Amino acid sequence: MTQETWSKSSWQKFPALQQPNWPDQAAYGQAVGAIAKLPPLVFAGEIRALKKQLAEAAEGRAFLLQGGDCAEDFSMCTAATIRETLKVILQMSVILTYAGGRQVIKVGRIAGQYAKPRSKDTEIVNGQEIPSYRGDMVNSPEPTLAARQPDPQRMLTGFYLAAATMNLLRAFTRGGYAALQRVHAWNNEFVKRSPQGESYEKLAAQIDQAMNFMRVIGIDTDIPQINEASFFTSHEALLLGYEEALTRQDSTTGLWYDCSGHMLWIGDRTRQLNGAHVEFFRGVGNPIGMKVGPDHDFDQLKRIVARLNPDNEAGRLTLITRFGANHIGKYLPNLLREMKREGCKLVWSCDPMHGNTYTAETGHKTRNFDEIMKEIRLFFEIHRAEGTHPGGVHVELTGEDVTECTGGGHNIVDAHLQQRYWTTCDPRLNAGQSLDLAFQIAELLR
Ligand code: PEP
Ligand code: CO
Repeated sequence: MTQETWSKSSWQKFPALQQPNWPDQAAYGQAVGAIAKLPPLVFAGEIRALKKQLAEAAEGRAFLLQGGDCAEDFSMCTAATIRETLKVILQMSVILTYAGGRQVIKVGRIAGQYAKPRSKDTEIVNGQEIPSYRGDMVNSPEPTLAARQPDPQRMLTGFYLAAATMNLLRAFTRGGYAALQRVHAWNNEFVKRSPQGESYEKLAAQIDQAMNFMRVIGIDTDIPQINEASFFTSHEALLLGYEEALTRQDSTTGLWYDCSGHMLWIGDRTRQLNGAHVEFFRGVGNPIGMKVGPDHDFDQLKRIVARLNPDNEAGRLTLITRFGANHIGKYLPNLLREMKREGCKLVWSCDPMHGNTYTAETGHKTRNFDEIMKEIRLFFEIHRAEGTHPGGVHVELTGEDVTECTGGGHNIVDAHLQQRYWTTCDPRLNAGQSLDLAFQIAELLR
């Protein structure tokens, strides 16, 4: 199929992988039709502001911090959960901003991260074959045939929960919760309690001094730069019917934007050159992320990059590499060279989670903190050796005190995993592990 004119529904003529088998097509049509009439979740102007910031990250003048749940859980859409996730991302961002001496672009995997690609369509539970869980926007995680039936009404529920989440995020980031002094005070609390605190104290004390200095010379702290935070949303735009329903034409520019979130990414399993996802994304003006794992082909990747970013606009495309600590050395250098040779303007981000998953003896799917950190460290080293910019990190985390990943300051071991293993999908860093990560990335950024 060749590239004809794009429309928000032109993807329908291309093969779309990882779509649920909706049992009732009429009900599906009604659900996406209803969403198409509802107001957008984000606005074109905000999307453009993010793209501008990402253009800075492409040049090494800003750093992208993208994080949140692997899969948001409808039942966890509460003020406390949203607040704790926002809090940990803000805390990480203060550490990274100070250490890196450059703006940190905060993007949550939040307010719409409800659909998951799966390696198999079905699974066998107690001898019965049932559809795989595909995220709360599709079906329910309980392992029964009824719960796993895809239900299009869940897309509407997802839309409303994303709207509620978005609303609270806007309130928290504008209403004083994100004030710098407050966020830094939380960090000091963390350093005091952390078993690794000593190694973080120096940096925390330097931030203290910088803030004292501002106070002494009379910099007014009651200004938006200090009292407010800009925070953007993102998710894997997997369910193309849902994304199409939220794709709107901007009245000021005439351009099309997918208004389900600010930044959207294409997963490692759905980035085929002639697939529906690439077709859909080439026509929307949002900043786009694309995951790249070990299974890739340079020629295909170059053509996908050219199709998604024909004008080579900085900030438009972020390649999120996810090779695993033991494989990044084999894949990343060549990939950077190939893209550099093409002159592609890209933000390079490191997802140190998805290539480092393993099954613990207890049967839990987990990741180890040191392996995660090792991939990030190699990511920085390789970029520096190749003369490209390590532009950001992409992590699965939560503000809750879960026990899903091993290691970190409190050294979670396999035997602890069952204590608070709450994820419905991949294991997330908890708040403490996320801050450990930020302090250790800070050393790499300095
Ligand atoms: C994810 O980010 O949760 C995910 C499924 O990643 P990938 O597409 O890289 O496997
Ligand atoms: Co995941």
